[in-house]
Amino acid sequence: PGYKVGYFVGSLSSRSINRVLARALIRLSPEGLEFTEIAIDNLPLYSPDLDDSFPPEATALKEAITSSDAVLFVTPEYNRSIPGALKNAIDWASRPWGQNSFHHIPAGVIGASIGPIGTAVAQQSLRSVLSFCNARQMTSPEAYVHYTPAVFADTGEVMNEETAAYLHNYMAEFRDHVERVLTVLPRARD
Ligand code: FNR
Repeated sequence: PGYKVGYFVGSLSSRSINRVLARALIRLSPEGLEFTEIAIDNLPLYSPDLDDSFPPEATALKEAITSSDAVLFVTPEYNRSIPGALKNAIDWASRPWGQNSFHHIPAGVIGASIGPIGTAVAQQSLRSVLSFCNARQMTSPEAYVHYTPAVFADTGEVMNEETAAYLHNYMAEFRDHVERVLTVLPRARD
């Protein structure tokens, strides 16, 4: 069967290298995954004052997650953590209390940086947030991507064979992870 993957790009930049990475991952993904971006750029800042009257953008965010079989986070590292815009989206999706949209959802974490650490610290930070949100994360393999324009074309084409194989393997493992979680917990999210 095919699995619907809702993916988050953690950057609001119009020239985001993480959006380029997302394009590359989609191009290199194995059969059986269908991708839809879940937007985070239209959300107001979360406040508990709005728990009783969610804005339509936040309701749409929760519905996009609920209608996905799995979620994939493709995020930059900002100051050794994740960008505030992504954290804001996660906070919205986790609320109102008792209606956390990430409960038991299969999840993957990946990111690209212009520095050699490749978002490793941001990914650890994101993983603790997703753990608390009870998402079922793929913990291995990890993928820390050092972006260079010589390797990644804006279209998502990956010009280096070794990098392409590495990203393909990440997505093949992610597909298997999604299948495994949904086999064990087929109705756990209802
Ligand atoms: C950065 N950048 C960065 N890189 C990194 O490896 N570790 C970090 O902690 C930070 N911190 C950071 C903070 C802020 C506010 C900005 C704007 C940038 C650099 C970052 O990797 C680079 O800007 C990427 O291009 C961001 O990804 P997107 O937005 O292009 O997808």
